[in-house]
Formats: sequence, structure tokens, C-alpha cells
Amino acid sequence: MHQPDDKFKPGRRSFLGYSAGAASVAAVTGCASMAADNPMAAAPPVTGEAGADTQAVQMPMTLEVNGQTRRFYGDVRLSLLDALREKLELTGSKKGCDQGQCGACTVHVDGKRVLGCLTLAVTVQGRKVTTIEGLASPGRLHPMQQAFIDHDAFQCGYCTPGQIMSAVAIVNEGHAKNDNDIRESMSGNLCRCAAYPNIVDAINDAKVKMAATPSPAGS
Ligand code: FES
Ligand code: FES
Repeated sequence: MHQPDDKFKPGRRSFLGYSAGAASVAAVTGCASMAADNPMAAAPPVTGEAGADTQAVQMPMTLEVNGQTRRFYGDVRLSLLDALREKLELTGSKKGCDQGQCGACTVHVDGKRVLGCLTLAVTVQGRKVTTIEGLASPGRLHPMQQAFIDHDAFQCGYCTPGQIMSAVAIVNEGHAKNDNDIRESMSGNLCRCAAYPNIVDAINDAKVKMAATPSPAGS
């Protein structure tokens, strides 16, 4: 697994700032160790103004997210996950490891699951991005969301947005034929609370309802 580029390493002063932000995130999410382990997890939002970071190459970006056109200035090195969370205030997608190991950041791009932390925002311009916030229809949860509730398929809930986005994708891909198929297809989504049996139950339940309910485009 690659290590973050040195250019991303915070200096001592900025690290202290990040740490203060991480404490706030821990208070809200209840995942103290997750935030504290990763000082970049709660990095304060960049202002979005071109030239705000003299070391960054800022450029205007346009993303199609959950059916809306969203424009902002961002560093060319900005990950899709950070763009969603820090620029567009879509914080449903979670940052667990920030290096492609946990699946908490899973979103859909053109209906396919991708890891937001390993995808550059600039590369998905012109493509359809769907996050957990865009999965439900007005007034009605997506069948997978409802199934996770019905089957208690989470405890702390930190991994849940990524689990649900992956679960929807594997059903649409035809990779949820049986329990073993589901476990294999979901193996990139880790759950510290070990809610795995209930997640499998939820997916088995939801796939039947999804077959009877056309899913929104892109999800
Ligand atoms: S945050 Fe863990 S895989 Fe992206
Ligand atoms: S990590 Fe807590 S529900 Fe999965």
C-alpha cells in the first residue's frame, strides 16, 4: 500500500491545528481513536479561493454529485473524498484509513463503486457521483438503507455509509448470489464492530426488494 505523498505531510504548526479539529470530529462521531490516529482526518476546510494555499495548485472544478452540479476551487491533488467532505459538506462518506484499506469512503461513480480516498476529484469531472446522501428517494429510504436498519446491520455506524454503497453496487453487479458471494464481494469494507452477519442478512433482504424496485440512475 502506498504511503501518502510527502507533500501532504503537515508541518508541526499545522499538525497542531489538525489535532484540535480531530477532537471535534471525535465528539460528533464517537470514533475517537479513528480521528486521533489520523490527523488529516479532520483537516480544516480550505477556503476554496484560488491562491489560498500558496503551495497548492488550485483550479476550478465541477462535479456532478447526487444529481446536482457543484463548482469549487480545489487543489489538483484533492481526493474525491476530501472534495465531498471539505468542499461540498457531504460528510456521509467517511474517512477511516485514507489509504484504500477500509472501504469507509466508498461512493459510486457512474454507478460503479470507487474508493473516494484513492480517487482524485479532478478525474471524475463530467461523471455521475453518488454518495450515501443521494441514495434515498424523496421521503423514502433506499431498500438497502432500510434493510440495514431492519437487520441492525451496524453498531457505531462509522463504516455504514461505505458498507451500504458497496452493498448496492454488488447487488447491481450480480455479485450477491449467496452468503459466500456477498462476503467475498464485501471483503473490502471493514467493520470494527464486526456487524458482518447482520450485514449479510441485510443484503440478502435488500436484493429481493431492489429486484422489484428500479434503482435511481447512477446508484
Ligand atoms: S478511507 Fe479507508 S479506504 Fe478510503
Ligand atoms: S465500524 Fe462500527 S458499525 Fe461498522
